[in-house]
Amino acid sequence: MTNFLSLADVADIDALIQSGLAAKANPFADQHLGKNKTIGLIFFNSSLRTRLSTQKAAQNLGMNVMMMNVGQDSWGLEMEEGVLMNGDKAEHVREAAAVMGRYCNIIGIRAFAELKDREKDYREQVMHQFAKYAKVPIVNLESATRHPLQSLADCITIEEAKLVTRPKVVLTWLPHFKPLPQAVANSFCEWMNARAKAGHIEFIVTHPEGYELAPEFVGDAYVTHNQSEAFAGADFIYGKNWSSYTHYGQVLTQDPSWAVTMEDLQLTNNGKFMHCLPVRRNLKVADAVLDGPQSLVIEQAANREWSAQAVLKEILTYNG
Ligand code: CP
Repeated sequence: MTNFLSLADVADIDALIQSGLAAKANPFADQHLGKNKTIGLIFFNSSLRTRLSTQKAAQNLGMNVMMMNVGQDSWGLEMEEGVLMNGDKAEHVREAAAVMGRYCNIIGIRAFAELKDREKDYREQVMHQFAKYAKVPIVNLESATRHPLQSLADCITIEEAKLVTRPKVVLTWLPHFKPLPQAVANSFCEWMNARAKAGHIEFIVTHPEGYELAPEFVGDAYVTHNQSEAFAGADFIYGKNWSSYTHYGQVLTQDPSWAVTMEDLQLTNNGKFMHCLPVRRNLKVADAVLDGPQSLVIEQAANREWSAQAVLKEILTYNG
């Protein structure tokens, strides 16, 4: 593995899941791999889990860790090529990424969608500019269209918690008053479709009309606008809000009936509830669900450490 930008960079998902589980069982077994190596974690947006779990994973592997909030700790970065830099961005990514690449053996980057220009967001300019100019492996800490470290943690969590050989996994849209990116939902679809194709799960997506995700992410998943139909007999309910892809970045409905309650969970096969967090209680999910025995959200967040460690181990192993 050179970069970890999306599922396309993963040769063997099963092996990566098993590597995460092995790290969880024995976190310090590979400390030698990161000795005298440095990772830079670069944030254009806020984070709790990604920031702390990736730092912890790197330290478990013996790495030094540097963190930076772009625009607060550093100069604002210009991403466009050939522009007259007479605005608020004082430094170009060409120099910034090249310099960071001299200080770091691996660079992790978080840069969300701006939700103004769909084509621009889906081009993943920030990730590609860093990969081009830093010349060291790049790890996606959540980009405009994907959150693969989250998806790997989700795979690990499902693998640990499943009670049947081929569980039914449902991605459901949840209501929210703010427009949120599609990255987590896109990535979850991408990884779950691969798991379904390999026969490990059955995968269903449910959302109100107008919230169709990009076709390249939905793939062959069964999609229904009937949440109760989707929940029937489900083993895992994965909740997430996203703004419209077709009416890009818009909030088309805030219908509270899409929030997950204990009554909804009664339709499932004693289904477990998952959410990447942060979550707004009682807007998207009832307190009783999050605080009840069917919630996996804390274990899921804890598994972010092991997904990051599996990915960093793979990169350190194959890039020296
Ligand atoms: N799930 C997740 O990525 O959390 P943070 O945004 O807090 O990093």
